[in-house]
Amino acid sequence: MLTLACLNGELLPADEAKVSIWDRGFLFGDGIYEVFRLYEGRLWLEAEHKARLRRSLEEMWFEGFDFDRLADRIQRTIEVSEVIEGIVYIQITRGVAPRKHAFPAAGTPPTELIVVKEYDDAPVVPLRTSGVPIISYMDLRWRRCDVKSINLLANVIACEAAHRADAFEAVLVDEHGFVTESTHSSLLWVRDGKLGATPEGHEILPGTTRMGAVLRAAEAMEIPFVEERITIDQLFMADEVMLAGTTIEVMPVISIDGVHIGNGQPGPVSRRLQAAYRAAVELWLAAQVV
Ligand SMILES: Cc1ncc(COP(=O)(O)O)c(C=O)c1O
Repeated sequence: MLTLACLNGELLPADEAKVSIWDRGFLFGDGIYEVFRLYEGRLWLEAEHKARLRRSLEEMWFEGFDFDRLADRIQRTIEVSEVIEGIVYIQITRGVAPRKHAFPAAGTPPTELIVVKEYDDAPVVPLRTSGVPIISYMDLRWRRCDVKSINLLANVIACEAAHRADAFEAVLVDEHGFVTESTHSSLLWVRDGKLGATPEGHEILPGTTRMGAVLRAAEAMEIPFVEERITIDQLFMADEVMLAGTTIEVMPVISIDGVHIGNGQPGPVSRRLQAAYRAAVELWLAAQVV
């Protein structure tokens, strides 16, 4: 099936979409992005993703952005693509202008890209059952990780280190030894019967899966949740560790740097949260008007 792009309002096959070398995203990484999951052609956690997109733009001083037009274009691109199980990728940069650090002249239009592509969950399904190994890696990112910026070099390097170690992800560790999150997923753990995660703040991206699905499920199941800063040594000793993200959903971690977490198998809380996540998606789909 066609991977469809909508570049500044123009629909075309993604491989044919072209952006200027003077685009500020290309030159400076001056842009933000967002990734939605499409289940049965519908945007999961739509409000949460849109709110985070809006916030990223506002925090980075993008002014006068037309959200209604973007929403219409997203819907049109999904419809024309006919993708049912897929991903919607949005990227907005500060547009095309002569290379100067300060913002381009007022009125310079942003570059707005929407890509709708199929997503094959099949390779991930067995991993949710088996759990995955991860590694630890230095958190080399900047101090506004709450913004979903396209500047992802530190994430890319850490993820590649994981890839080279045959691991699924890398948990990022700050200069004081505290864990933050993972390169492209949220990190959660279970200690003393409580679900834990790094406090919301500039150190982590506010994960839509963490907030919009996992924490709601935990609350419904009366699993206590605590925001806490813990070190990598404390994470090694956690009863359970899991990742959460738009495509991986809830992914149990069975080892970090080769050291087993718990008994080296996905734990009971991870299992319950996985089941609750699935149930929430099914319930939401059933409630959609055809
Ligand atoms: C750094 C980082 N943290 C967390 C997440 C999880 O966010 P979400 O649940 O919205 O996919 C992502 C997703 O891309 C990410 O890049």
